[in-house]
Amino acid sequence: MKLIRFDEERRIFHLTSGDSSYIMGVNAQNFLIHGYWGRKLPDSDFNYLMETQGHSSFEACEDNEVGYWHSPNCMRMEFPVTGRQDVKKTALELKNADGTNMLDLRYQGYKIHEGKPGLPGLPATYETEKGQAETLEVILLDDHSNIEVSVFYSVWAHLNAICRWAVVKNNGNTPVMLERVMSGCVDFPDRDYIMTTNYGAWANERQIEKHRLFSGVQGLYSRKGTSSHMHNPFVILQRPTSDEYQGDVYGAVLAYSGNYEAVVDVDSYGMSRMILGINPDGFTWKLEPGETFTTPELCLAYSYKGVNGMSNTFHKLFRDHMARGKYKNTRRPVLLNTWEGCYFGINEELIENIAKEAAKLGVELLVVDDGWFGERNNDMTSLGDWYPNKAKLPNGVEGMAKKVNAAGVDLGIWFEPEMISKESQLYKKHPEWTLCVKGRLISQGRNQYVLDMSRQDVQDYLYDCIADTIKKGNITYVKWDYNRNHAEIGSELLPADRQGEVGHRYVLGLYALMERLVTNFPDVLFESCSGGGGRFDAGLLYYMPQAWTSDDTDAIMRLSIQYGTSLVYPLSSMSAHISVCPNHQTWRSVSYKTRQDVAYTGSFGFELDPLKLSEEERAQMAATAEDYKSYGDLFVNGDYYRLANIYDDKCSAWMFVSPEKDFALVTHASIDVNIEGPQKKFKLYGLDENATYVDEGRGRIYSGAALMYDGLPMDGLGDRATATYKLKKM
Ligand code: GLA
Repeated sequence: MKLIRFDEERRIFHLTSGDSSYIMGVNAQNFLIHGYWGRKLPDSDFNYLMETQGHSSFEACEDNEVGYWHSPNCMRMEFPVTGRQDVKKTALELKNADGTNMLDLRYQGYKIHEGKPGLPGLPATYETEKGQAETLEVILLDDHSNIEVSVFYSVWAHLNAICRWAVVKNNGNTPVMLERVMSGCVDFPDRDYIMTTNYGAWANERQIEKHRLFSGVQGLYSRKGTSSHMHNPFVILQRPTSDEYQGDVYGAVLAYSGNYEAVVDVDSYGMSRMILGINPDGFTWKLEPGETFTTPELCLAYSYKGVNGMSNTFHKLFRDHMARGKYKNTRRPVLLNTWEGCYFGINEELIENIAKEAAKLGVELLVVDDGWFGERNNDMTSLGDWYPNKAKLPNGVEGMAKKVNAAGVDLGIWFEPEMISKESQLYKKHPEWTLCVKGRLISQGRNQYVLDMSRQDVQDYLYDCIADTIKKGNITYVKWDYNRNHAEIGSELLPADRQGEVGHRYVLGLYALMERLVTNFPDVLFESCSGGGGRFDAGLLYYMPQAWTSDDTDAIMRLSIQYGTSLVYPLSSMSAHISVCPNHQTWRSVSYKTRQDVAYTGSFGFELDPLKLSEEERAQMAATAEDYKSYGDLFVNGDYYRLANIYDDKCSAWMFVSPEKDFALVTHASIDVNIEGPQKKFKLYGLDENATYVDEGRGRIYSGAALMYDGLPMDGLGDRATATYKLKKM
């Protein structure tokens, strides 16, 4: 059966994605109305879903005779616009040449496209095999101004996911100013939902908060220039009766790396409008006649199997259909990053010695972090001067690479391409490349300015610097950092009426540069970073399959950071490293085993100087590197299940299961010692209930059914300790 069906007579669209249905219809007034999103339904007469009930007489309506509940403000709109009757948060608001914001979009027609189209200049999910997706384009038109909007829905045969975006076309003959153009909206029928949001800061990303929906607007946004540490661009709505493993859960993730807004607006009739897109605050876009504007992609997932079911869908969507590159489904090299071990104090001799030691320990990739370029001895200078610091690297990156490669290790390198230090050769030469408002003070953050990424000359300069270093240094990995917020947003090249475009043009420029690099260097593994996880978003996964989850390498802090991140992002995208104790961010000390077990994600490494460690510690590292290599594929391609809720259970527990269900790795981490109470048992998920599993470490034998329906008994744990259970199908 087709994934997208249109009932011509009733004018109903029925989209099926995995085992979910999304239903909408065209009503008598030619508005596109939302009907249903949830568990899969058989085709039927769904017209009743489009009906609205009587509401307050205050609502404005084009035909008073029909009844005031025929106002779009009372309807569940698929793509609500400002201008006629809808007075909630809308998906589109613009200013016409006459200064008004009048817009009235009515159904015009539809097209069904095979597969999943890309989005021009933007990250987008894609098929890995033909036939996995179908795309519906619904065309809406304001026949007065000739503004046309195509609303897109891509549905997946094997996933409960829908990917949405919109394209606004100005078919009129005067320019219009877009003031708010969101990627998608879902009007839920009531307000009986719990909303999960996330908050955080540097070294404390993606902490989870939940609240019962209340009347009015609630949600998240960023105006920092990036998706940000503070709030990541995702929201989750779940029915109060649902939990981690059962019940209706709806997730929305915006695949965008810049300023965004993600809100739920609960109206006076108790309907809940979820709406996500580019942050309208500080944004305008001038659309000339004949031009189009494409929004970023919004990824939606539905689960009737609780929050974990939603996470599994997003994990597969982002790992298999958003991330790209040769590493997306393979074990990543075991790396050693120099940052916490050496900070700015690197030089060729030290790097060579670390490389030799690292090779003995089974490390495959040595990443030289900050400090290798320009006059960079601290964070005061040199961003933009992407040539080797001759005092530290007398033979250049080339010379360093030869020594590292001779030791049997690949070389990776750190860049912070989008930044420029005031004290740099580049700033002397090109002060006009700085993101700023002419004639006004330019703020510094970490002693640096931001480059104007909307400029082609800036993108070209950065491309040449990065490409040249990759070639000269035989570089196999690039860490792409970004370490401050935007402040004064302006571009010298744009006219006054286009300055509101700079924030979005910055992101488009960044995407264009990354696209060029990943296309020309397909074998290089790129990792994104922004002071840790300040730009950990689905958009960047399109260019870089992994991200530095947090600058906080403390294993206990990482438990909640990785828990929150795992709600929507796959484990394959989460970088985690073992660092020394006391930890450099929290000054906490925990055992090596705890640090190791927590760092076992899809992208594992060490962040220390092995030359400063004892023989015993180095032996632990070698054993870890060997162990990780045998499970690396599981961490990338396995299914991930959260077994405990770190906020309620005072502990954390999770498991990976191989796609074949023949192996599972369960980890339990304590945060507080619990002397009293019964032995802990966690029900396991994703196993073969008819199979028998042996716990390789303890020799115990369990049936899959017992593990899933009764649970795996846990060893007692001391304070901040971990235990792992390796369960192999017999
Ligand atoms: C940021 C990153 C760190 C490290 C430093 C280098 O803070 O998140 O991992 O690369 O920059 O200056």
